[in-house]
Amino acid sequence: MDITHRPRRLRNNKILRKMVRETHLDMSDFITPLFIVHGKDKKNPIRSMPGIFQFSLDRLEEEIEEMLALGLEQVILFGIPQSKDEVGSDSICESGIIQRSVRFLKAKYPELYVITDVCMCEYTDHGHCGIICEQSVDNDATLEYLQKQVVSHAQAGADMVAPSGMMDHMVAAIRSALDAEKFSHIPIMSYSVKYASSFYGPFRDAAESPPQFGDRKSYQMDCANRREAIKEAQLDIQQGADILMVKPALAYLDIIRELKSITHVPIACYNVSGEYSMVKAAAEKGWIDGEALMMETLLSMKRAGADIILTYFAKEAAKLLRDK
Ligand code: PBG
Repeated sequence: MDITHRPRRLRNNKILRKMVRETHLDMSDFITPLFIVHGKDKKNPIRSMPGIFQFSLDRLEEEIEEMLALGLEQVILFGIPQSKDEVGSDSICESGIIQRSVRFLKAKYPELYVITDVCMCEYTDHGHCGIICEQSVDNDATLEYLQKQVVSHAQAGADMVAPSGMMDHMVAAIRSALDAEKFSHIPIMSYSVKYASSFYGPFRDAAESPPQFGDRKSYQMDCANRREAIKEAQLDIQQGADILMVKPALAYLDIIRELKSITHVPIACYNVSGEYSMVKAAAEKGWIDGEALMMETLLSMKRAGADIILTYFAKEAAKLLRDK
């Protein structure tokens, strides 16, 4: 037998395997989502997301300090307001849950990089991502609210804003509102390609934001579509998005790769609630090795082309990376 090429030669030794490893994970890859509730002394477990909590501001410190000690310096905030109404008033008000959280975090931890999710579904009583007009979300009316929302986040001290509502022209609207208020330095990470996905199920427990009627298919994308993802990404770049996001991640690795190859902006992906809970549930049953699967899935996102991963696994993965 005359075998010249033996790929196994490079797999025989542990040190050599490390030398030829193509993809690496690092704490700076991760953004940790945090759920913040109104009130005092709250650390509410989320039923469908073992290990993840809703925090009141006074209980957040412990969590942030643990994260910073692990080298996790970036967070994205989701707020659960005390009261909801038709137009999501809490989301644009100076004393809103997010505005208070940003002020608190930036005052106490100036080194923490604070990103805000910009959407209306957590604040509206109907649970949709915009202003409702005749049973459907009115795109252009919603843009005005998103503009008010980003300006109030920026005034509170947010480092970056991340619009997630899949409204047409949202990036341009937000960019012009920020620029007009002298926030031209604040980057926009757009949820450019967000699919109408069943993987968001547990998040709706965490953020208490399920739509009260209908679904989100008139604004979130059909999971069957790839060319439409390219169109959304290109529109966002034209409108001034600094970072593009694909969401969910695991079932959409092809889309991450596609965007990576056609654009030059950094690509983020959202390793969403259902992807987290799926791993946790199977691990709890003893059907899979949860830690190994966590690292494998995170690595697959980076390998596909993601520069940034929003993930509920951030702390756990950081601990493994530290102890390695
Ligand atoms: C709000 C928003 C959602 C998620 C992030 N921002 C929910 C949704 O669109 O229903 C989901 C995140 C997750 O599942 O972890 N627009």
